[in-house]
Amino acid sequence: MDSTERHPFLRGLSKHRGAPPTVLVIFGASGDLTARKLLPALYNLAVDHLLPADFFFVGYGRREVDEEEFRRRAAGAVREYSRRSLQEEVWAPLRNRTFYQTGSYEDEADFRALAERLAAIEHEVGRELQYLFYISTPPGVFAPILDNLGRSGLASHHEGSREASKVVIEKPFGHDRASAEELNGVIARNFRESQVFRIDHYLGKETVQDLLVQRFANTIFEPLWNRQYVDSVQITVAEDIGVGARAGYYDQSGALRDMIQNHAMQLVSLTAMEPPVSLDPEAIRDEKVKVLQAIGMPVAEPEEGDVVRAQYEAGLIEGEKVPGYLEEYGVAADSPTETFAALRLWINNWRWKGVPFYVRSGKRMARRTSEIAVQFKRPPGILFSGDRQFDLAANTMVIQVQPDEGQTLLLNSKIPGLETRTQPVKMHFRYAATYGSNTPEAYERLVMDAMVGDSTLFIRGDETEASWRLITPVLEAWQAFGRAGLASYPAGSWGPLAADRLLWEHRHEWRRPGA
Ligand code: BG6
Repeated sequence: MDSTERHPFLRGLSKHRGAPPTVLVIFGASGDLTARKLLPALYNLAVDHLLPADFFFVGYGRREVDEEEFRRRAAGAVREYSRRSLQEEVWAPLRNRTFYQTGSYEDEADFRALAERLAAIEHEVGRELQYLFYISTPPGVFAPILDNLGRSGLASHHEGSREASKVVIEKPFGHDRASAEELNGVIARNFRESQVFRIDHYLGKETVQDLLVQRFANTIFEPLWNRQYVDSVQITVAEDIGVGARAGYYDQSGALRDMIQNHAMQLVSLTAMEPPVSLDPEAIRDEKVKVLQAIGMPVAEPEEGDVVRAQYEAGLIEGEKVPGYLEEYGVAADSPTETFAALRLWINNWRWKGVPFYVRSGKRMARRTSEIAVQFKRPPGILFSGDRQFDLAANTMVIQVQPDEGQTLLLNSKIPGLETRTQPVKMHFRYAATYGSNTPEAYERLVMDAMVGDSTLFIRGDETEASWRLITPVLEAWQAFGRAGLASYPAGSWGPLAADRLLWEHRHEWRRPGA
């Protein structure tokens, strides 16, 4: 047995070093995501010597762009958005293997032209290249791109081998259950599931991956991680930014679709899932989907249901005045779109029956912070609080997803002194202190995993459908209510008062994140 077989982490590393020769094609190459995330990810993978020696990148877009100009813009994006500064000796080889192809998304002839271009690159290299397609366009053209990849033969290039084509699909994956099912149908008629990588970039975050390690590589949490000991779970994904220049997209989407259906539900699944039989992608995804399937349908009745929605009004973010959602450029004056959503979920399985999972996400909240807080049942206070009318604090395990990534365990401790008085204290673990602060971005990991064909950190078709099953009836109810029942909150706050009701009913309250 060599050392990589013995040590799973080393095995992980060698897996990434073994990416096959690849040409990556990004559809939507002049878009924001390519500039902010994908190009910096490629550059950082190059810095870490993780790209295969034969790696090529083709940007594909509708707009006519001169290839040299495209390369210049790509360098500009890396300069502006990469976590590490651009070094000419790393960039130059990548630049020389960067190409641009103009074409439409609907016309099969343009895909045949792309196929010829890729074949020419493959011919010149003189070895088999894996085609990795990354769909980063507006969702309206996902289906024509997928069909054209099928029709032009690009989807079946090197079929059956390790170099078989792969396709990464960005969000949003459908806008409701029916459209997600339809998109899965389009995928299935052109690709096998093993070729498909549906992105949820939260799964690429280090802290989110660490959730499984914390749960299943330690003995102390798992015996307590159930309805016998856990009182409730709170998941907060808060942002301080507004909709910025994305109102066109966001006003059609809203917090439930944009953040909860995907990112927050993934956090619920990973927090609640059973131990998988192995780290095989299907074993993990089987367990995640079972969680979603066990969740009872949330009731969307205003003022008594399991969901709350709200819109931000004008307020202060870090002392700066910011406009309300309805005043944002590009938002309809009477828009019913929620910028905040909170849900109370019940997972009806053996482990979690009766434990509420509270989930909330919003724009223009007090701070950008995402955390998962597992609150344990309160210890009996007889010894320390008996006749003194105060409750002992509940032990709480907080996984700080971002920023200032880490974990905190809240414990009760004795205040030094002659009397026995207790106080909650915190045990902290911070990634930056232990591992340094320059950790890889989610997209580096995800692009690399797609390149080596590892789908563990991607969403399987049935997972996305299981999540839409829960969310779609809520969206339909909200659509029927219009603005009725839509609460509001000042920008810079922790959300609407209405969201507190979801917790009060069970004698809980929202944590102040970071507390
Ligand atoms: C995206 C949403 O999926 O996630 C955005 O569309 C949101 O609205 C973003 O701002 C948040 O990602 P992160 O990694 O900054 O938490």
